[in-house]
Amino acid sequence: MDSIPGSHRHHTVSDRSDSSKGKPARRNRGGRKTGTHQGKQTEPVKPTKNLSRTMSSESLDSGYESPGSPTLQDSLSRFGSIGTTAPANQITRTLPFDIEKLALDEVSPVHCSDTVELLPVMGPDGKATSLIFKTLPPSLDDDENKQAWAWKTIENESHVFASVPEDPKLVKSYGVQNINGRKGLLLERIQGPSLEQRFKELRTLYLDGQLTRSEYMCANKLLTKQAAQCLKHLQDAGFMHGDFKPDNLLYDTTQNRLRLIDLGTSTRFDEVASPGHELYADPAAVSFKVMDKRRFQPMPPDDREVMTDELREKLPRGAQSDPKMDVYGLGQMAYIQGFTQGEETQMFTMGADLGSFRSGAEYRIHYLYTQMPDRYRDFDVLPAFSHDFPKKELDTAMALTRKAMEIGGDYYSFINSTLSPLRDKRATIDEVLDSSFLKLNKHEMKKAERVLRTSSEKFQALKASAQQQELVQLMKNNPGFRPQKG
Ligand SMILES: Nc1ncnc2c1ncn2[C@@H]1O[C@H](COP(=O)(O)OP(=O)(O)OP(=O)(O)O)[C@@H](O)[C@H]1O
Ligand SMILES: [Mg+2]
Repeated sequence: MDSIPGSHRHHTVSDRSDSSKGKPARRNRGGRKTGTHQGKQTEPVKPTKNLSRTMSSESLDSGYESPGSPTLQDSLSRFGSIGTTAPANQITRTLPFDIEKLALDEVSPVHCSDTVELLPVMGPDGKATSLIFKTLPPSLDDDENKQAWAWKTIENESHVFASVPEDPKLVKSYGVQNINGRKGLLLERIQGPSLEQRFKELRTLYLDGQLTRSEYMCANKLLTKQAAQCLKHLQDAGFMHGDFKPDNLLYDTTQNRLRLIDLGTSTRFDEVASPGHELYADPAAVSFKVMDKRRFQPMPPDDREVMTDELREKLPRGAQSDPKMDVYGLGQMAYIQGFTQGEETQMFTMGADLGSFRSGAEYRIHYLYTQMPDRYRDFDVLPAFSHDFPKKELDTAMALTRKAMEIGGDYYSFINSTLSPLRDKRATIDEVLDSSFLKLNKHEMKKAERVLRTSSEKFQALKASAQQQELVQLMKNNPGFRPQKG
């Protein structure tokens, strides 16, 4: 594991956890680090306050030193909650059914992972209802710690839902309930694919020549606009999402619109952030996540740290919940749809070559962010021109710029205003919604709606014919082979 230049050189990320094992760094709660480190006197650590100041040589946030990461036990009970931000006006919703008469379909989960399970809810007639139950998977039963942590995420989600006004752009929540003796979050069940799936359908049809570039971009613009409108509804209520990615938006085919789900990592703007997917979350937050594992346990409201001035002083910029954090996710969505040429999605990684392993991505993003060369302070992600760039980087950067300009000047500006690694240079959600890229005239709107009405069917047809061709090829190559019926 590479060492983090600029911070205590002899530290590597993995070392951090080791350092907490029985060798806690001696420190006073003031946050300033005193005493020795492996014999060498270390100078007190200066908090890096205002990041927009261009600090030419010094890399961003690299000065920050997280307190040795405690064992999991500590991480669940934090150092002194600083008081809750839980607003009194919790919104409660009347249940469309008598909860006693509901049951769970535990054999066919809609989604199951190592931290969460989503189960269909059956009505008194044994038929599926328009409800879904987000609960803990049985696999967590023998891991108390992980179970407690996973439950805190669901608790947090229920709290946020109860604090945000109801709206068609947001899935409806009926709060934490108990069904079949299991506790979980009862939600309205949305019929339709995720935005991830819709984006993939459009890319496949476009690359297969079934959509013109204009049809393709109009449909992408409409979906990106709807995603931005979902985000604005949450942010107007004082929350950021924290895991804003196409998987967490569902396209409701009964309303022909996108709806936001999964508020597990959602936080208020005056709280410490809890970023999700490392390529949709902004680099500052990902960098902080790498540097400070301890703080990244999703917390129910009354356990959450409020960002006091003293804490703001101490923590790097990335720790601060910030509406612009989610905007980066929007930029990444538009970047993927514009730059992906084949099966593998092309994502913006600040120039980092992430290779095919996602595992190291978080660390590479952190490294690049803390070592970010000046160019990103003075130039755009897709630079118009620059003589300051080293030749190799210039060619890559200009190739991306040319590609974006081919798609359109509005697309080019949209990418630059949403994907800047520096929050100060990134657009707000209102500026995003006001951008020319998301302005569709009547004709474009009609085209986008027509494409979105037909693309899922066309995609299924394309997939079926591809499977058919594969089968024919298989039979040609293996004369004896006979496909099984059904
Ligand atoms: N209200 C809903 N209606 C229909 N499907 C849903 C609903 N909520 C979630 N899902 C499906 O379940 C999946 C996971 O849900 P969600 O995003 O809320 O959980 P998660 O915490 O992200 O889970 P994981 O950590 O496993 O990704 C979604 O991607 C979606 O496919
Ligand atoms: Mg999710």
